[in-house]
Amino acid sequence: MKLLVTGGLGFIGSNFIWHWLRNNRNDSIVNVDKITYAADPRYLSGVEKEFEYKFIRGDIRSREVIQSAVEDADAIVNFAAESHVDRSIEDSDEFVSSNYLAVKNMLDLIKGTDIRLHQVSTDEVFGSLTYNKKTQFRHLSRYDPRNPYSATKAAADLMIGAYVNTYGVNSTISYSGNNYGPFQHPEKLIPKTIFLSMLDRKIPVYGNGRQMRDWVYVEDHCAAISLILKRGRTGERFLVGSGKAISNVELVRRILRLLGREDDLIEYVADRPGHDSRYCSDYSYIEKKLGWKPEIDLEKGLRKTIEHYSTNPDLYRDKIARATKP
Ligand SMILES: NC(=O)c1ccc[n+]([C@@H]2O[C@H](COP(=O)([O-])OP(=O)(O)OC[C@H]3O[C@@H](n4cnc5c(N)ncnc54)[C@H](O)[C@@H]3O)[C@@H](O)[C@H]2O)c1
Repeated sequence: MKLLVTGGLGFIGSNFIWHWLRNNRNDSIVNVDKITYAADPRYLSGVEKEFEYKFIRGDIRSREVIQSAVEDADAIVNFAAESHVDRSIEDSDEFVSSNYLAVKNMLDLIKGTDIRLHQVSTDEVFGSLTYNKKTQFRHLSRYDPRNPYSATKAAADLMIGAYVNTYGVNSTISYSGNNYGPFQHPEKLIPKTIFLSMLDRKIPVYGNGRQMRDWVYVEDHCAAISLILKRGRTGERFLVGSGKAISNVELVRRILRLLGREDDLIEYVADRPGHDSRYCSDYSYIEKKLGWKPEIDLEKGLRKTIEHYSTNPDLYRDKIARATKP
């Protein structure tokens, strides 16, 4: 296949490019990325020597950029987005244009063609579950986004549904839980916890720390997207999660334990406005349809993640300074 990947210099996109090319050695990828603060070309260093890969520095909000990049493609895999909820609470303009309007443009460009658009969405579009352990997001749960980031992701998904239904556009959507693994920006909870504890600094935890998240190791997410690209049918949507949720404070404690540090590094800080209580996804649909299930459990994934960040601190040095201001 010839893929157009957007946002491939960010966390999940860069992991996906390595994953896809290593597993589909005759395929080619064009990567369009604007290189925001979250991107880093070093995540893909050497990829062009080993594989058929081309990078275009460009903004997905520009029709011309996507039009010329998509010409030869069989599919677009859309990772490009503003991805940090806290930033969307401060100002959501970039979120509206990159996460929603750009997707609408892509849909217009592929209308009337066979090109597939795979949209990398999030479980956050389904809103917030109660703390009752039995509740889970399920296949075709109702949309109920509750922060500006998830609202822009939901808006894009809804427009995709409308274009599939109205114009027969070829598209699939995956909704993943929280990802973790190599190449994540240190503003996000897991790398931030690892780096702050390595610096012997306090680790801020929002509110009472009870909010629960469903964590997916990034390699498992990439495997799910690969299966969807190969075997998913247009209009299909897939929840990608672990089926388990852990509270933020418990997660931080587990990381501290793995690093041999004490819980007294934790510092509770004012809660995020509108903080969702709990996300947890039932992945039985993608398991039944495509045979996907998570392979890497949280313990193993955290060990691999800690190993990566503690052996590659140079890759993150400038970002750590900005993301972990005291
Ligand atoms: N990280 C998670 O836990 C998670 C979970 C579920 C879904 N997602 C979704 O997965 C996708 C990737 O997330 P991530 O964590 O890798 O994000 P990230 O912030 O690490 O990377 C986003 C990438 O998109 C690029 N980008 C942003 N706006 C752009 C634009 N207008 N034009 C071109 N490039 C642009 C950035 O430069 C960056 O390389 C996002 O769509 C996000 O909503 C993320």
